[in-house]
Amino acid sequence: MSSELVEKVAVVTGAGSGIGAESARRFARAGAAVVVADLNLEAAQSTVADIHQAGGTAAAVAFDLGDEQSIKELMASTAAQFGGIDVVFNNAAAVHLAGAKDTPIEHAGAELWDETMRINLRGTMLCTQFAAQYMLQRGGGSIVNTASDAGVSGDLGHPAYGASKAGIINLTKYAAVEYGKRGIRCNAIAPGLIVTPATEATWAAGPMRDIMLRQHLTPYLGSPKDIAEAALFLASERSRFISGQLLHVDGGLLAHHPYVADLVALSDQG
Ligand SMILES: NC(=O)c1ccc[n+]([C@@H]2O[C@H](COP(=O)([O-])OP(=O)(O)OC[C@H]3O[C@@H](n4cnc5c(N)ncnc54)[C@H](O)[C@@H]3O)[C@@H](O)[C@H]2O)c1
Repeated sequence: MSSELVEKVAVVTGAGSGIGAESARRFARAGAAVVVADLNLEAAQSTVADIHQAGGTAAAVAFDLGDEQSIKELMASTAAQFGGIDVVFNNAAAVHLAGAKDTPIEHAGAELWDETMRINLRGTMLCTQFAAQYMLQRGGGSIVNTASDAGVSGDLGHPAYGASKAGIINLTKYAAVEYGKRGIRCNAIAPGLIVTPATEATWAAGPMRDIMLRQHLTPYLGSPKDIAEAALFLASERSRFISGQLLHVDGGLLAHHPYVADLVALSDQG
């Protein structure tokens, strides 16, 4: 147990699985009443059951990040049930669109591009807009957005996903500027490769896992707990003088020259 979020109300989106579920559980252990919001209500309810079992306070809400009315209702129902909103962790994203369908620009379809932007970028903006209304009534709050290393670097695929995450990085700065004097901070986390059930079957599997690990400065890959701890820090008063920032939580994946892993391999050969 810790006490960073005692008497706070936190909304965690995409909290039915992976990073969001771990963060919701962590926020609850820090004392928050947590609204576990997800497209998949059953998954959200399972996270809530974990929280209740551990003695925490939580409620599951079905919502769609791609739907404005649904976002409005999420924030309104949170405020009605728990008396206000202090923290929003904008973690949900249309990750299912970021796979094979999100092809290189040469072959990219405008429909997938629009859908990705609508859900990830527009949805995060609307979550900020509607949550901030309630935060202002309480004199402030903290918004934590989820970007990605893919929003800072180019890659061989998923340009729509990457560009939507780049948009979230700049949106974070705009929100920090606009709401800062009124007590709302806004920061973003850029996860690198985080091992979840989804990435365990793709990026963190087989030869891909070795390639990724070689590019990390840590001897291990990231886990949802690593993001949950960073999100808790940014959500809480412990980070009260930090706003408009992007925090890379990626084991140093983007912190080095591109040739470092090759140089290490060369020196290992003797
Ligand atoms: N796992 C990684 O390696 C990694 C790396 C960089 C960034 N991220 C980001 O972290 C966040 C969480 O990723 P994850 O790996 O835990 O994914 P995940 O697939 O495990 O969880 C995503 C959750 O979001 C929900 N969701 C999907 N579309 C939604 C919508 N339209 N409305 C509401 N909820 C919706 C899903 O039901 C799911 O529960 C995402 O923003 C993702 O882009 C993840």
